[in-house]
Amino acid sequence: MRALVLLALAACGSARADDDNRHDESSARMAFATVHEVFMHPRCMNCHPVGDAPLQFDDSRPHAMAITRRSERNGVACSTCHRAKNGTRPNQPPGAPNWHLPPAETPMVFEGRTPKQLCEQLKDPKQTGGKDLAGLVHHVEHDALVGWGWEPGPGRTPVKTPRAKLVAAMKTWAAAGAPCPD
Ligand code: HEC
Ligand code: HEC
Repeated sequence: MRALVLLALAACGSARADDDNRHDESSARMAFATVHEVFMHPRCMNCHPVGDAPLQFDDSRPHAMAITRRSERNGVACSTCHRAKNGTRPNQPPGAPNWHLPPAETPMVFEGRTPKQLCEQLKDPKQTGGKDLAGLVHHVEHDALVGWGWEPGPGRTPVKTPRAKLVAAMKTWAAAGAPCPD
């Protein structure tokens, strides 16, 4: 009798653990949907393009004046125009400290990535410049170029999802073992 009760209790407990896991996993998937949505915002994607050219405006067209990663090597630094602060009038260069594209060796492409592709890429330190999940969360919470997305200067649409909500979503996703969508 006693053994049976214990058995029943144990079964119950593990059913609850399964439920908790499923719950964690489904909230993690929802959280990752928030991450993907923000990363695809033009204020983020414009510096995380497929090719060598930064993109601009809400329609993410290639940067004017044929600016690319190669421009810097040819002596035209991004900082020639992009300073530590936004220009004060529309169409003046936006600015934040150390304005750059990610390096050519780890281009950290967001443009065109499906949620599954983005998820797998973020979990591969070879593609994140060596950052693990904690490093990514820290970057999104504190980096000045990320922060610029919410204060992009006159005439540009800021990211809509609050930064704190994005950070919370990344933490939820990471804490559940960073499951990727199918
Ligand atoms: C000759 C000046 C100049 C140089 C050099 C330059 N930019 Fe720009 N950039 C601008 C101007 C001006 C704008 C704003 C255009 C507007 O809003 O009408 C801009 C806009 C942008 C935007 C658009 C932001 C958005 O979301 O719409 C990005 C991203 C960007 N530049 C990245 C770069 C990067 C990266 C480099 C270096 C590889 C670079 N730029 C070099 C002048 C420059
Ligand atoms: C002006 C260009 C610029 C803008 C705007 C920008 N980033 Fe980045 N991002 C970079 C650079 C450069 C790096 C590499 C920095 C490093 O390795 O320390 C980077 C790295 C990252 C990384 C870490 C590595 C990885 O694999 O992804 C994340 C996450 C990220 N950015 C998210 C964002 C988000 C979210 C936004 C918008 C809210 C954003 N970025 C806007 C230039 C930009």
